[in-house]
Amino acid sequence: MSQTPKRYTITAALPYANGPIHIGHLAGCYLPADIYARYQRLNHREVAFMCGSDEHGVAITIKAKKEGVTPQEIVDKYHVMMQDSLRQFGISFDHYSRTSSPTHKQTAQDFFKNLYDKGEFLEKTTQQYFDEEAQQFLADRYIEGTCPKCGYEHAYGDQCESCGTSLSPTELINPVSKLSGNQPVLRDTTHWFLALDRHTEWLKKWIVEGHKSDWKSNVYGQCKSWLEAGEGLQPRSMTRDLDWGVPVPVEGADGKVLYVWFDAPIGYISATREWAEQNHKDWEPFWMEKDTKLVHFIGKDNIVFHCIIFPAILKTHGAYILPDNVPANEFLNLEGQKISTSRNWAVWLHEYLEDFSNKQDVLRYVLCATAPETKDNDFTWKDFQQRNNSELVAIYGNFVNRVLVLMDKYYSGVVPQMGACTAVDTETLAEIQKYPQRIGDKIEAYKFRDGLQELMNLARLGNKYLADEEPWKTIKTDPQRAATVLAIAAQIAGALSVLSEPFMPFVADSLRNMLNLEPQDWSLANMPLLPANHQMGKANLLFDKVEDVAIAAQLEKLEAQKALPSVAPANAIPEAKENIAFDDFQKMDLRVAVVLEAERVKKTDKLIKLTVNTGLDTRTVVSGIAQWYTPEELVGKRVVLLANLAPRKIKGIESQGMILLGEDHQGNAALVEPDTTLLPGACIS
Ligand code: MF3
Ligand code: ZN
Repeated sequence: MSQTPKRYTITAALPYANGPIHIGHLAGCYLPADIYARYQRLNHREVAFMCGSDEHGVAITIKAKKEGVTPQEIVDKYHVMMQDSLRQFGISFDHYSRTSSPTHKQTAQDFFKNLYDKGEFLEKTTQQYFDEEAQQFLADRYIEGTCPKCGYEHAYGDQCESCGTSLSPTELINPVSKLSGNQPVLRDTTHWFLALDRHTEWLKKWIVEGHKSDWKSNVYGQCKSWLEAGEGLQPRSMTRDLDWGVPVPVEGADGKVLYVWFDAPIGYISATREWAEQNHKDWEPFWMEKDTKLVHFIGKDNIVFHCIIFPAILKTHGAYILPDNVPANEFLNLEGQKISTSRNWAVWLHEYLEDFSNKQDVLRYVLCATAPETKDNDFTWKDFQQRNNSELVAIYGNFVNRVLVLMDKYYSGVVPQMGACTAVDTETLAEIQKYPQRIGDKIEAYKFRDGLQELMNLARLGNKYLADEEPWKTIKTDPQRAATVLAIAAQIAGALSVLSEPFMPFVADSLRNMLNLEPQDWSLANMPLLPANHQMGKANLLFDKVEDVAIAAQLEKLEAQKALPSVAPANAIPEAKENIAFDDFQKMDLRVAVVLEAERVKKTDKLIKLTVNTGLDTRTVVSGIAQWYTPEELVGKRVVLLANLAPRKIKGIESQGMILLGEDHQGNAALVEPDTTLLPGACIS
């Protein structure tokens, strides 16, 4: 943006209201957006920081089905939960809306109508899968079948999770509707396709030529490859056959709703309208004036929607500005593995708060310090502990604490008069003055990690200054010297209290209270904020050590929750069976055995041939566990064998018994493993 912006419209991706917020969301999107928004406000810029819940789309309807409730119940539950978590972590949205709001419905429909009237949609009739029992068209995720590429039997209509190939539902072999379990039929359906192909040229000019140097390379690269792909951009359907979403506001579109990626980004605009209305402002300048800087904070999976499709929609409408930047982050992993809601591999914000109450800023700090700004990054609890203990406690907290304690001890908490400055003092004062600009430049460039690093450098500077000048010694030999040093150290603490605010707002607040300082503008952090005779407040501990046991507990919890399904679907636990006599049970010869060898049974997906030692003998058992275990994993495992099951031939192999396996209502299966103290041959009775 060449001119100085007059106002800022800052958006953070609307989270899907189908699950709680985890650290990946925070690190990828909400934290950087918040740092940026807070920084601009401290500079007295007019800011509209907008977000809300994304409540439409198939993800929500699938979740509702799984839990046996309505989509409305799902979004109501998670809307509140997500809003609450984000607020508790200090994410300072000016407004947090939701896409089920009436304002949003109207805004989204008006947009669609506007484009429709301009002839920007191609109306096309295509064949899509329809479930005759459920009487509805099936979204891609509602269709399962065999992958044509790798043969995996549970590939989705849009992708095979086994080999990663993108698919279209009609490519699946033996497609099955997940609603009824029946084979779906192809039926004609009409949809409205945004003529994206008409937009390739200006988008290329705008992004490929215009934003090569100021957009992040990960964002730029993705856009470039989309725009320069062989066939160029293709028309894309902006409507869906679904009964959950914003109704398509044109004739002949009964039973159809707007595609979630059409309506969701418009949610930023709806949110701005609601906010403006509540605050007696005009919303239009925030979206229509050239001197507004529009910035979208998102994760990398949202790039094409924010850089290509939404801008095409805005541009076609005509009255809107385009984003100045879209600083998308890469992904955050957790202990070396991809964060996954369905596998319950995540650190949830609401749970973190239970275990580390009042330590929001520690998580903000760690997530900013390790943010996946340029590549995927890993969050580990060990690193969390290390950064807390040896950075926040040992550097930042230690410095602040020393200043306050010494000030209290020698001067009863009143800032002393400075004496003559040495060269080191003058240098130190000059150095402090550079920090607001230094950190600000990093924030403006979306380099939040570097900005935070600079903030810590200021604390380091303070620590070093005190350690070198030793006021605790000079207080006895040269009190004037000690007074000067502490007066200067106090200025560093003052500057820290202002410059920390975007990163660690709670800490900044406590620190200001300790220093007895009013909130200050960013630019004033380069001035001595605590003049002589200023009375300081009360010292408090800003950070404390995170002990090994707390970290061990988190690691244990992660492992344990991985085993649990994230949500138990209603009524999915099988009903109890009829009672049996003790004698019936006694007829079974259950015993512990150990697996000696294992190999897959050729030409089958599920079977493994095992050689087991039962203590009595060595025998062959065929088991349907190849979906869950590799042969290598099985060798050496101790299992429970039903040893007197009559031998049967399976795929030509005689199976002498059956290995016990448990299966839960989510379809996860695992061996029943005896306690390690039981030797092969042990009888179970
Ligand atoms: N709900 C989407 C996701 O979580 C993000 C939507 S961003 C918006 O990936 F632009 F649509 F709002
Ligand atoms: Zn596949």
